[in-house]
Amino acid sequence: MKNTLEQIYKNAAEEIINAQTFDALENVKLKYLSRKGELNSIKKNLKDLSDEEKRTIGALANNIFNELDKQIDEKMQKLYKVQLNNKLESERIDITLPSDFRPQGKVHPLTQTINEIVEIFQGLGFSVMPQEYSPEVETEYINFDMLNFPPNHPAKDMQDTFYTKVAPNVILRSQTSGAQIRQMLNQNPPVRVISPGRVYRCESVSARKNNLFHQIEGLLVDKDITFADLKGILNEFVRLYFGASRPTRFRASYFPFTEPSAEVDVQCIMCGGKGCRTCSGSGWLEVLGAGMVHVNVLKNVGIDPEIYSGFAFGMGVERLAMLKYAINDIRLFFNNDVRFLNQF
Ligand code: DAH
Repeated sequence: MKNTLEQIYKNAAEEIINAQTFDALENVKLKYLSRKGELNSIKKNLKDLSDEEKRTIGALANNIFNELDKQIDEKMQKLYKVQLNNKLESERIDITLPSDFRPQGKVHPLTQTINEIVEIFQGLGFSVMPQEYSPEVETEYINFDMLNFPPNHPAKDMQDTFYTKVAPNVILRSQTSGAQIRQMLNQNPPVRVISPGRVYRCESVSARKNNLFHQIEGLLVDKDITFADLKGILNEFVRLYFGASRPTRFRASYFPFTEPSAEVDVQCIMCGGKGCRTCSGSGWLEVLGAGMVHVNVLKNVGIDPEIYSGFAFGMGVERLAMLKYAINDIRLFFNNDVRFLNQF
C-alpha cells in the first residue's frame, strides 16, 4: 500500500509539472485530490488494515495530499504569472508610433479679425449692438434715406446696390451704417456701440473687390462730443490694431451722413511710407471712414442736435486683415483653401 501511495505521488507530481494550462492543472487536482480522487479511494481502504498500519499509511496519505495540494497551488501561481506576462507582451504599446492624424478646425481669419477689433473697442468702452438692429436684408429707407442720402442724389451711386424682388426698395445692405439708425431709434443717448456684419455690393469681382465683404460700424453719441474725441478713439484703435509705431493721418472726405467727414490712413505697411505699388506711391493706406454724425441724421431719429453730438466710423474687415497680414487677394478669404486658412 505504501508503494501504491508513493507511485500515486510520483505520477501526480509529474502531471503537475507537465500541466501547462489552468484546465490541465484543474484536472490533475480532480484526479488525485477530489472526494472521488485516487488518494481518497486509498483512504477508504484503510479500515481493512491493522491499527499500526492505519496510522503510518494514514499519515503518509495525508502528507502526500498536503504536498500535492501545495504543488498545485504553486503551479497555479506560476501559470498565472506566465499568462500575465504573455498578455503584457502582446498588448505592448509602442509610444514612438505616429498617432492618428486629426486635422484641427480653426477660427476663420475674418472672424479672428472681427473678434480682435471688437475686443479693442470693448476695451475702449463700446459694446456690441444687438443683432436685430443690423439686418443684412434692409430697406433703402434705412440704408440710404435716413442716413441723409438725398433721393436720386448721385451719392447713392457711391455704392452699387443689389436690389431684391421681395418688395420695392428692399435691398441687400451696401453698408453697416443703417445699424446706426436702428440703434438710435431704439436707444436714447448716451450711445456707444459697434456692429460687425456682412455687406453686399454689385461690383465685378477682382483681387481688391468682392460682392460680399464685412464692415464694422461704430457710433458714439453723447453730450459735448467733438472731433477731438473721434480722433482720440480712432488713433487709439489704429495704434492697438497695427502697433504703436505706425503713423496715422486724417484726411478730409465726404459721406452724406457725417459732417465733417474724414478718412483715416496708416503709413503703408509694405514700404514704410516711401511709396510702392500697394499704396500707389502715396506712402499711405486708407483704413476707415469716419465723421461727426450729421445734424440731419440726428434729427431723423429724433435726437436733439442742440443737446447731443456724436461721431461714427466704418471700416472694412477684409481690408484691415489684408493690410495687417499682407494678403494680396480678397478672394482668398472666400475660397476656403485650407492651405491659406491654416496660416492663421
Ligand atoms: N459706410 C461707409 C462706407 O461703406 C463707411 C463709413 C464712413 C461709415 C463714415 C461711417 C462713417 O460710419 O462715419 O463706405
